[in-house]
Amino acid sequence: MLRVEGLSFAYPGQAEPYQFSLAAAPGEITAISGASGSGKSTLLDLLSGFLAPSAGRIDLDGTDLVPLPPEARPLSLLLQGQSLFDHLRTDSNVRLGLPAKITRRAAAEQVAAALESVGLVGLGAQVASTLSGGQKQRAALARTLLRNRPILLLDEPFSALDDATRATIRDLVRDLTRANGWHTVLVSHHADDVVALATRRYRLQSGRLHED
Ligand SMILES: Nc1ncnc2c1ncn2[C@@H]1O[C@H](COP(=O)(O)OP(=O)(O)OP(=O)(O)O)[C@@H](O)[C@H]1O
Ligand SMILES: [Mg+2]
Repeated sequence: MLRVEGLSFAYPGQAEPYQFSLAAAPGEITAISGASGSGKSTLLDLLSGFLAPSAGRIDLDGTDLVPLPPEARPLSLLLQGQSLFDHLRTDSNVRLGLPAKITRRAAAEQVAAALESVGLVGLGAQVASTLSGGQKQRAALARTLLRNRPILLLDEPFSALDDATRATIRDLVRDLTRANGWHTVLVSHHADDVVALATRRYRLQSGRLHED
């Protein structure tokens, strides 16, 4: 169980701090909606450890994640606009989601399966800079999903995808979340993504999360 309790944060000069609380069970997809500038990415930055809260807890099955640096947190994340290492091949980019210490063969198999699951068969050898925007987004998602950590944070992960691809990738995120018991937190402006995926919904307004 993931429980965020009274996680407080203010940017310099901000009068009223954000205060975030939410709960999510394994296998659930928690959707966060809210106007542009309402603080959705700020929440994900706090969860992932790039921002430090002034108070509060991020409790995962009894362990508080707040004292942990980003790299030690049991999560994977796909941030808004975050992309690939442009000079690397697509498969090398996806490989970065796997631990360094597995065999070359096991890595190649998992990378190939991940590329297939996001519809990028045959593009592994292509340098990332030569992919389209939607292909880059899918490769970045494949890398994120391969990490297989208990918490998955996604910020507008489907924004560059056409409707058909979007539906396929949504199914993939849903199936992997259920199968692996991830706590997935999805930030999306798109009502149809939220309807298709969310098992819990929160609206971010006036610095607080409101469960719908
Ligand atoms: N580093 C920063 N310093 C000061 N203010 C910031 C900083 N980063 C974000 N903000 C402000 O905090 C507020 C929340 O920003 P945030 O990026 O979390 O919004 P968001 O809900 O993700 O918006 P969008 O939907 O447009 O991505 C905004 O008013 C933004 O200008
Ligand atoms: Mg944002």
